[in-house]
Amino acid sequence: MQENKTVSRDRVCPWWFSGVLDNPLRRWLHKPQAILEPYVRLGQTALDIGCGPGYFTLPLAGLVGEQGLVIAVDLQQQMLEQARRRAEQAGLLPRIRFQQASPGGLGLEPGCADFALAFWMVHEVPDKLGLLRQVRDALRPGGRLLLVEPLLEVQRGDFEHTLEIASGAGLQVLSRPQVRFSLAALLA
Ligand SMILES: C[S@@+](CC[C@H](N)C(=O)[O-])C[C@H]1O[C@@H](n2cnc3c(N)ncnc32)[C@H](O)[C@@H]1O
Repeated sequence: MQENKTVSRDRVCPWWFSGVLDNPLRRWLHKPQAILEPYVRLGQTALDIGCGPGYFTLPLAGLVGEQGLVIAVDLQQQMLEQARRRAEQAGLLPRIRFQQASPGGLGLEPGCADFALAFWMVHEVPDKLGLLRQVRDALRPGGRLLLVEPLLEVQRGDFEHTLEIASGAGLQVLSRPQVRFSLAALLA
């Protein structure tokens, strides 16, 4: 399947933009617990792909509990450092592993996770098929991916094209959760 070059950007959200990703307005708009709770259980391993400064990483760590694990992956070391600092302040470091991705790969073990979150990040990745194949491989049988894209940056047609690419990677849409200012799909 052909990549849609019109929605690809060769630029990622800069690390100094992280204040916009975690502020009181966003906390009102995107309640991480409410968004993630239906999909994550105690003791599971959850991936936060393109975790940024950790807006969803810490709540995920709360949901998987002491026996669970969150693997937070990002391209940018500065984002990972911010997320790590927050995790440390919250006392959640023991249940989070931080991992730096390269543009070519997430560096995940096959079958390592029960759940994956890709929130407002897939539109930043030029090789969506490659990314989604890596997520598919990282999920255990029955594992699910919550893919959420920003409505301000991604048009509906482009989102549907991304879901076609996901289908080409073996990930099928299970449902279409409602997430404010976003387009979202749960895939398995
Ligand atoms: C708009 S931010 C969203 C951060 C976070 N998911 C949130 O919702 O607050 C997108 C993040 O994805 C990361 N990113 C972009 N391309 C990536 C890739 N190929 N692998 C891993 N992370 C990537 C960026 O570095 C950035 O931190």
